[in-house]
Amino acid sequence: MDRRLRWRIVERREEAPEAVTLTLEPAGKKAVAYEVGQYLPLIQTFGSREERRAYSFSSCPGVDTLPAITVKRIPNSLFSTWLVQQTRQGDVLESAEPTGRFLLPAQKPERLLYVAAGSGITPILSHLKAIFYQKNWADVPIRLLYANRDSAHTIFKRQIDDWINAWPERFEVTYFFSRERGAAHAEQAHLNNALFERHLLAFVGGKASVSARNGLLTYLCAPTPLMRMARMAMRALGFPDERILQETFTPDPRLQHRQPDPSRQHRITVTLPDGQRIAFDTFEGETILQAALRQGIALPYTCKSGVCLSCLARCVSGEVDVQFVEQTNREGPGALVNTCIGYAVSDEVELAL
Ligand SMILES: Cc1cc2nc3c(=O)[nH]c(=O)nc-3n(C[C@H](O)[C@H](O)[C@H](O)COP(=O)(O)OP(=O)(O)OC[C@H]3O[C@@H](n4cnc5c(N)ncnc54)[C@H](O)[C@@H]3O)c2cc1C
Ligand code: FES
Repeated sequence: MDRRLRWRIVERREEAPEAVTLTLEPAGKKAVAYEVGQYLPLIQTFGSREERRAYSFSSCPGVDTLPAITVKRIPNSLFSTWLVQQTRQGDVLESAEPTGRFLLPAQKPERLLYVAAGSGITPILSHLKAIFYQKNWADVPIRLLYANRDSAHTIFKRQIDDWINAWPERFEVTYFFSRERGAAHAEQAHLNNALFERHLLAFVGGKASVSARNGLLTYLCAPTPLMRMARMAMRALGFPDERILQETFTPDPRLQHRQPDPSRQHRITVTLPDGQRIAFDTFEGETILQAALRQGIALPYTCKSGVCLSCLARCVSGEVDVQFVEQTNREGPGALVNTCIGYAVSDEVELAL
């Protein structure tokens, strides 16, 4: 259900101030499979409290010999401060299994647009390695819009510049530097709505036709306001929403959990991937994940705040309220529900992992 893995740090490489790449070797000597664009849910106990955080792979299976994650330290933070400042080569890290849905499509897209800021480049680097070194996609134009403070704080800048030089006809990059003027391939600006629309339309050939709009696949990995702006602009210009994928790194601090009321309970049944079934009760106002963990049932999770998707389960029967910050979705049979922000509505709910 929630299998633990152990990893030895075999190399630490500084990518930018307070950003390191940790190359990891499975401590059990058995290779661990992961996909391009996935993340590693790291688990560490601080004091007596177990904490989990997601870190995307910057490596690409089949291109890089070993998996690697790239971590940018958030000021006054717990996990990233520990990883960046205190871990050393040879240390062993614990994780759950790699997971995530920020994946490349099986079918070759017509065009690929990437929008990244800061450490949001991490899963995109993994994508780009696969595209340049593995996929037979030489005729797919790729555009990267990448926002940072300046060149020095731009994670993987040297690697990206090498690719610009290697494939100028298929890979075009614009860096947006808020505090640096005159850098190559860069504009000194915040990536705002007008700039985004200008670059988007230039990439798809001006006023995009329906087929150009449908042929574009877009990946966003940046702070939430920047991703929201890009999505809204694309929606307004008629780009289909389902062809815009995003990876959200930052939990929304406004997320509030409901107050549990033990006087009313719901029955949850979960079918595990191996076919085993487990059943437990939740209190009214308690998330399905909270209830499982309270009773020692190790359902998968990482962020507990609705952004990483490692807790997704398919609803087989019954109804679940999935409560985000700005909306609550009532979901029924067939829907994928985040158990970390999912509250049973019906007396009985059946889920499948
Ligand atoms: C799917 C996924 C993939 C991720 N991949 C990466 C990655 O490749 N590299 C990476 O460095 N991080 C990545 N993250 C973010 C990472 O999981 C942590 O959220 C981040 O390192 C902060 O955790 P912390 O314990 O250091 O901060 P905390 O101690 O939890 O928080 C400290 C403060 O920082 C704020 N905060 C929390 N997270 C962020 C954030 N991401 N950006 C800005 N402020 C934040 C909090 O609201 C709080 O105020 C990813 C997150 C997700 C969900
Ligand atoms: S644990 Fe991250 S979305 Fe539920």
